[in-house]
Amino acid sequence: MKDCLLRGCKLILGVTGSIAAYKTPELVRLLVREGAEVQVLASPTATRFVTAETLATVSRRPVLTDMFADHKTWTQHVALGRWADLCIIAPLSAQTLAKLSHGFADSMLAATVLAAQCPVLVCPAMDHDMYMHRAVRANLAQLAAYGYHVMDAELGELASGLTGYGRMPEPHAIVTRIKALVRRATTLAGTHALVTAGPTREPVDAVRVVTNRSTGTMGFALADALARRGAQVTLVSGPSHLKTPAGVSRVDVETAAEMASAVAAHGSADYVFMAAAVADYAPAAPSARKLKKRDRDAVRAIALAPTKDILQALGADKRPGQVLIGFAMETHDGVANARQKLKAKNLDWVVLNYVNEAGAGFGTGTNRVTLLGRDGSEERLARMPKRAVAEALLERILPASGAERSEPCA
Ligand code: CTP
Repeated sequence: MKDCLLRGCKLILGVTGSIAAYKTPELVRLLVREGAEVQVLASPTATRFVTAETLATVSRRPVLTDMFADHKTWTQHVALGRWADLCIIAPLSAQTLAKLSHGFADSMLAATVLAAQCPVLVCPAMDHDMYMHRAVRANLAQLAAYGYHVMDAELGELASGLTGYGRMPEPHAIVTRIKALVRRATTLAGTHALVTAGPTREPVDAVRVVTNRSTGTMGFALADALARRGAQVTLVSGPSHLKTPAGVSRVDVETAAEMASAVAAHGSADYVFMAAAVADYAPAAPSARKLKKRDRDAVRAIALAPTKDILQALGADKRPGQVLIGFAMETHDGVANARQKLKAKNLDWVVLNYVNEAGAGFGTGTNRVTLLGRDGSEERLARMPKRAVAEALLERILPASGAERSEPCA
């Protein structure tokens, strides 16, 4: 079935100096046929391999190469960076790759990529030995770390006559990848997601606190992944040094009580990911002044009172269609405890991890989780970086909650 995904979609296609540039008129033609608006930006060497006239004809727009061609519109790279829904660089030469990985802005193409406010897809293409060089591998890893999507080069016959990795994928394969990214970027358009992250910090006296080892990494990764899918994201965070992901609105809180009010203010969100490690107990009567060493009786008498269970309250008030996801950190009997939590708090999903397992839990870059569903499902995922865990969780939770319906063409 033909879909309408690319109809009216604004795409930037950056073409650089690689022999694979000869395939780009076909790529443009396929995209235009799908209803996309395509603005081609060519690096000066790209036009040694494909003419600007050909690309302008198939894209039905002038090809932009020179930043200063028109002194009145030299800021066009900024406008273009905001205009585009997706920026694709195909083929990406080793030279432009090196520039992009270091944030160079010395051409219309490089400056526009730097200004782009949309997802970026790159399709590197070069000879095998260059593609395998450590500098190229490091530059590609750097782009991936910026959040760019990298489409691996393919194995095959190369312009040098050698056979190896370095071929740009065929235009139809690039179109398929573009569609997947466009679909992903709009999956949650019009929805509101609330994510909590990090620890809470409960005062004991004027200087001391009771807290836990959570850093917020998992919650921040989820907020980022949700924003990348087009959701309006509110991130309620306990104390954390992490940078707020792009497009996410952050509310900083300190105590469980502050987190409860911040969450209540956004309790109608379509998706709630309660990833914060909220204190279950807090000092019942924190001292306004600093307790002294000699205040032995007062220290011994510090009493803890239970905090409000935020997730329980959300579950009790859950509106139809709302999706509630809880997190469970256990040391033993994880699945049984998590199932019990799922039921008691009226959740749709519980993400379970073990604090005593290597490469999982607090303060590690990776996590190994088991996802338990209200429908009785249970899936143990592989250990992976927390960003990848966030992606894997959304890949399972969103389709099950009906967020990924495809619109057939009228
Ligand atoms: N949670 C919450 N409010 C609290 C405590 C926890 O919303 N006051 C949320 C957490 O963000 C997490 C889930 O509830 O999503 C954890 O469930 P919980 O039953 O509190 O687990 P534990 O704190 O580990 O409690 P237990 O010791 O009973 O396992």
